[in-house]
Amino acid sequence: MPAYVVLGTQWGDEGKGRVVDLLAAHSDFVARYAGGDNAGHTIRVGDEVYKLHLVPSGVLHPGKRCAIGGGTVVNPLVLASELRELAERGIDISPERIMLAETAHIITPAHVALDKVNEAQRGDSAIGTTSRGIGPVYTDKAARTGLRAGLMRAPDLFIEKVKQHIEGKNRLLVDVYKTEPIDIDAALPDLHAAAAFLAPYLADVPLLLYQALQADKIVLCEGAQGTLLDIDHGIYPYVTSSSATVGGVITGLGIGPRYIERIIGVAKAFSTRVGGGPFPTELHDALGDRLRGTGANPWDEYGTTTGRPRRCGWLDTLVVRYAARINGLTELVITKLDVLSGFDALQVANSYTCNGAPVDTLPCELETHQDCQPIYQSIPGWQEDIMGVRSFSDLPSNAQSYVDYLEELTGLPVKTITVGPARAQTIER
Ligand code: IMP
Repeated sequence: MPAYVVLGTQWGDEGKGRVVDLLAAHSDFVARYAGGDNAGHTIRVGDEVYKLHLVPSGVLHPGKRCAIGGGTVVNPLVLASELRELAERGIDISPERIMLAETAHIITPAHVALDKVNEAQRGDSAIGTTSRGIGPVYTDKAARTGLRAGLMRAPDLFIEKVKQHIEGKNRLLVDVYKTEPIDIDAALPDLHAAAAFLAPYLADVPLLLYQALQADKIVLCEGAQGTLLDIDHGIYPYVTSSSATVGGVITGLGIGPRYIERIIGVAKAFSTRVGGGPFPTELHDALGDRLRGTGANPWDEYGTTTGRPRRCGWLDTLVVRYAARINGLTELVITKLDVLSGFDALQVANSYTCNGAPVDTLPCELETHQDCQPIYQSIPGWQEDIMGVRSFSDLPSNAQSYVDYLEELTGLPVKTITVGPARAQTIER
């Protein structure tokens, strides 16, 4: 009966897709619970690199069933093309193994256009969204004016609803934002084709997950984004519009909390974020550039969805401890420990000075948060390349101490460490 949750403890991009890919091998069902194609999960299998935005990372394991839950928001064009690309690469995308919740909300070209004009209007305080229509679609969901995936069962009716929806948004785009309307005639044929393609995937996802849990199957719940981007628990308004934290599992998938046995927090060994908003441990120097990498490899610190260079900085344990508390984490996975090889010393923030006062828990109000300076603990680094290490005891002792220090600060066991992009570059404890 157990459900396991994999979620991000920082600002997203912690390597959740990679961790889901590892755990999927021992699971029956992988279910994505929130967000849309703003997410990007990069997974390497042998020499192949896959970049997934909506389809759960479990899809790369033959025979595993995958669900996209009702808490997600789905651009039909993106999902259809992601599925087709997977099929072209030999992945089984049959509706027997991939299901889309009827209750997921649909992203239209009008949502994308509104996302862009909203951002332009924000000027210097832009959130730095991924321009995927995420804010506007969740706005419509909360306003109860949205379109749900179940409508795609009847593509003609769906298109009629989309047409009315775009006509309404066009009035907003033209009359309020003084910008170009969406060309409805140009937009509808592709959406119709995508709806017809996706209709067979529609399913009652909560029921299927319930049946799986009752049959003692393992359901792996895949998060997107990270705790500090959560609409409720992130540093508002520099957040996404969904529930990236554990609460999103319950509402986004429609399963009861009693099924959840493990809540696995994924933490990168340093910090990154894309988009605007405060980031106390950000590095603006060569050290930050070194953490980012050159972009020559798909796992360097450049957005999977937008290609933007990520802001990089030292590990902030106030953030990881906050994620541990908000999500009730049972364990941690540390990713990209190999990137820290070669530094003489590593800095870890475990407290801040905020408005002149010492603080050791994460301030959640923007006004306080943006006035925080990290207080660093310096930890000796290690010089060895650790990408070939497969057991904890073979890590250099300073690398072991770094992990031990994080365990001590968070009170959580670090059960898995990744030391490179390949599946095998993993240390299990
Ligand atoms: P939105 O989700 O596109 O509205 O973007 C809101 C904020 O969340 C922006 O700062 C984005 O850069 C950030 N964001 C959204 N999705 C991801 C993600 O998958 N990884 C990292 N940052 C993300």
